[in-house]
Amino acid sequence: MDKNRKSPLAVVRASYEPKLPQALKASVALKEGGKTESVDNQEKIKTLFPITYGMPVIEFVAGEAKDYPAINVGVILSGGQAPGGHNVISGLFDGLKNINPESKLYGFLGGPSGLIDHKYKELTADIIDDYRNTGGFDIIGSGRTKLEEEWQFDKGEEICKQLNISAIVIIGGDDSNTNACILAEYYAKKNNGIQVVGCPKTIDGDLKNDMIETSFGFDTACKVYSELIGNIQCDANSAKKYWHFIRLMGRSASHITLECALQTHPNVCIISEEVETKKQRLSDVVDTIVSSIVERSNAGLNFGTVLVPEGLLEFIPDMKSLIAQLNDILAENDEYKAMTSNTEKYSYIIHRLSPENAAIFDSLPVFIAKQLTADRDAHGNVQVSLIETEKMLVEMVKQQLAKLQVKGLFKGKFDAMSHFFGYEGRCAVPSNFDADYCYSLGYNASLLIAEGKTAYMSIIRNTCEQSEQWIAGGVPIVSMMNIERRKGKDVPVIRKALVDLDAPAFKYFEKQRSLWAGAEDTYASPGPIQYFGPMEVCDSRTYTLRLEAHKLS
Ligand code: FBP
Repeated sequence: MDKNRKSPLAVVRASYEPKLPQALKASVALKEGGKTESVDNQEKIKTLFPITYGMPVIEFVAGEAKDYPAINVGVILSGGQAPGGHNVISGLFDGLKNINPESKLYGFLGGPSGLIDHKYKELTADIIDDYRNTGGFDIIGSGRTKLEEEWQFDKGEEICKQLNISAIVIIGGDDSNTNACILAEYYAKKNNGIQVVGCPKTIDGDLKNDMIETSFGFDTACKVYSELIGNIQCDANSAKKYWHFIRLMGRSASHITLECALQTHPNVCIISEEVETKKQRLSDVVDTIVSSIVERSNAGLNFGTVLVPEGLLEFIPDMKSLIAQLNDILAENDEYKAMTSNTEKYSYIIHRLSPENAAIFDSLPVFIAKQLTADRDAHGNVQVSLIETEKMLVEMVKQQLAKLQVKGLFKGKFDAMSHFFGYEGRCAVPSNFDADYCYSLGYNASLLIAEGKTAYMSIIRNTCEQSEQWIAGGVPIVSMMNIERRKGKDVPVIRKALVDLDAPAFKYFEKQRSLWAGAEDTYASPGPIQYFGPMEVCDSRTYTLRLEAHKLS
């Protein structure tokens, strides 16, 4: 990176020294817990992972100094960007050099495909120094190629042998870490001496469980979105003329939406997992929003904010059924593809849908009906993330308010703006939390490798406390797995964590939301991420983390 292109913040931030847990600051010893079991389907998973099943959870504690041999390691960034990825790599680099200065780190380029296609570069001190504490995954790039077939594993082995690489670190989400574990088992079976270690990445926050308190990037991304939401709310409260409908990234899970709501207090926040549990229909979701609009309008407030999670449509039972039937109708359908007129297409679909699904399809705004029937992925599924749910809700709310107006039940004004926040937060300069957490995850991964571990995920716990008190170690990846049906097959996968309606974060939100929906001014504006200044501002933890650690109630 050309230093002249660096902003003043980037120049100063380059010298920030990420904090490590006390236990990793000197020589370490291994403390092993009891044998682990997978979270479900133990017998089946045990047969699929005969070598890596049942290993213990590991904690690093202070120990005697040891001489480790030099190790060559390859690192891969997998999937969507998340703030802090560069710090995982710099922590890994520093850890490896500390273990033995002759160690080398290679970065595979463009995600897992770099391993398969043998595209790599050695990450030297100069390169690493240029990327410390910066956002983005541009140091080596990322990609979504799935490492799941044996020929890919063999190609990986080939390049590792060539570069004398004895360990691969995969920085990724639940699917990438599932594949990391399958790769580790395969290499262990071949006894080829190549270890595989994972690091928990994703802004979505859905890679978490008893051992993983949070995935990296969630903290920074939520802070960026919350700043934007706070600013929008202040604008809304100043101009007093718009309702803002804001869709937030997060794929299926609503963790980001929930955390942003806790930080900003929007008038309405929809949580997909609640919609599904309560079997709400699309019309129920619309009614929730309309009721806040009417209540605020009665108090003369014709403005407000609505947060909507990216994956909402998949969680609405009637929409789910419509989407499934559309997938069936349109799968590899050349007859439909050949149609040019919209009327012909509409008639083709409506006559093949069940009466219930046809009624829902008919009630949707035309542009949404078009998106639902047009945008399909390589597997023939509707790409729900490309569906502009926020715009759809604006249209449906408008229709509902018009009906109420006729009945004299709504006398206000409704003008709406829609937004989608996702890419804005994924490459932000990591917050102090993510900078420290990621560096520690990477440094810790180097020790797991030095200790000969494979099929482990690098973990740092007790993260609500100051970094000195963080607990560092590893958890067997297979212990997080269960069997799920994917593309028509039963496969082992890391269990994704959706928002738990009984967990403290949702409970806290549930207590506040009726107040936020009403006519009182309750907006909160967290402002931009602070990198320097008072600890309570710079090192603040997410509400989700604090509530789960019982630091808030
Ligand atoms: P990961 O699960 O790979 O971390 O990606 C997260 C995410 O940002 C989701 O929130 C979003 O739905 C998706 O990536 C977008 O994917 P893409 O980057 O391919 O557009």
